[in-house]
Amino acid sequence: MQATTKPRIGAAEIRTLVQQASQVHDAVRAEMLAPHPRKIAPRFTAQQIAELIGLEKSKFDSRLRGTNMPAGHIADGKRRRTFSLDEVRAIVSQLKSFPSRPVGAPGYTMACVNFKGGSTKTSTIFNIAQGLALRGRRVLLIDLDPQGSTSTLTGLMPHTELTEADTAGLLFSTDSDSAQKSLEYAIRETYWSGIDVVPACGALNSAELILPQMAAMRRGQWWNVLNAALDAHRAEYDYILLDTAPSLSYLAVNAAYAADGLLMPLPPEQLDYSAALMFWDMLLEIITSIQETSGAEKAFKSIGVVLSKVNARPVAAMMRGIIQQSFAPYVLGPEIPSSEANALSGISFGTIHDLVDDDGVARTSNKLRQAFDRLVDTIDGATVASQWGAR
Ligand SMILES: Nc1ncnc2c1ncn2[C@@H]1O[C@H](COP(=O)(O)OP(=O)(O)O)[C@@H](O)[C@H]1O
Ligand SMILES: [Mg+2]
Repeated sequence: MQATTKPRIGAAEIRTLVQQASQVHDAVRAEMLAPHPRKIAPRFTAQQIAELIGLEKSKFDSRLRGTNMPAGHIADGKRRRTFSLDEVRAIVSQLKSFPSRPVGAPGYTMACVNFKGGSTKTSTIFNIAQGLALRGRRVLLIDLDPQGSTSTLTGLMPHTELTEADTAGLLFSTDSDSAQKSLEYAIRETYWSGIDVVPACGALNSAELILPQMAAMRRGQWWNVLNAALDAHRAEYDYILLDTAPSLSYLAVNAAYAADGLLMPLPPEQLDYSAALMFWDMLLEIITSIQETSGAEKAFKSIGVVLSKVNARPVAAMMRGIIQQSFAPYVLGPEIPSSEANALSGISFGTIHDLVDDDGVARTSNKLRQAFDRLVDTIDGATVASQWGAR
């Protein structure tokens, strides 16, 4: 009888696979970002800035002429004047009609949550961060997903260039030499001015081992570690945005307890809807159990469910109705359409905001960009009204 050899895929083979895939990933990425080793922000047209401020283009042009505002730049061989991100922020802060955060008032902390991967948490929170920064807001974006997708969008390579000491991980460290009480050590600027980031990488997963130990031994408030650490930063930023892993992990619970508000992007699909129900159910269970065991209460200032990746199919319309009924009054007005332009920008490790105007994608990308503009307006408007309004 002939001996048959069964395939055996052990650690050695998986190591080869990991090495091969990492090499390809890094090469693709280097190619995409060439000639810049890091991402750079795109330039913006006067039309885009006028839309941001809510002024008609002609009115905007005359306001721009009449003052000592940044003049932008017309590149060789181009007809249109474009503006750098810093110029946009300077112009918006002079011409905007919405108020600044009052001096000394804390920024608003919002956690992006859902139970299911692919529900567009990362894309949504990153686009919101970019939109808020374009409006002149200062944003701290904290990546709490060990997968590090948000960090990748900032141009970092979590897999190869970050360690636990670059992430929020040291807040949860049991080693008293390295443990930290604020995120000062990990905050870094990004290519998108107005956005600072605390990145994540696989090593952040250690928090998922340490926090349950803390819970089991009843040593301190395991759910409150991030919340306490953020107190050092709330007055420095207009918004602190937290991106979480697709689960109610210990880190995600920390994000919820650190947050004033929760934002749940929700594609109108059956599986996403079921996962969302499960999320709220489990959040309730956790909040109740923490309250029962420790007396600590948690109340949010806002909850926003945003329909995302919405397509024109009849089933999406049906699911929209079901979601609106289920999650009233928390479903936000603006919806994020499903868009090919998103996939296109995703290939180059970016979002729709990173995409420069290009005839091929202009129509769909404008639709997506405008949807995010409306979402950012809604979120910022609500924050101004409820937190930073006239006092
Ligand atoms: N508006 C959109 N239209 C189409 N695809 C989208 C849209 N937003 C996000 N995606 C894609 O959906 C996938 C999951 O998005 P992601 O933000 O990583 O979700 P999560 O963080 O919840 O896992 C990504 O491939 C992303 O490019
Ligand atoms: Mg994500």
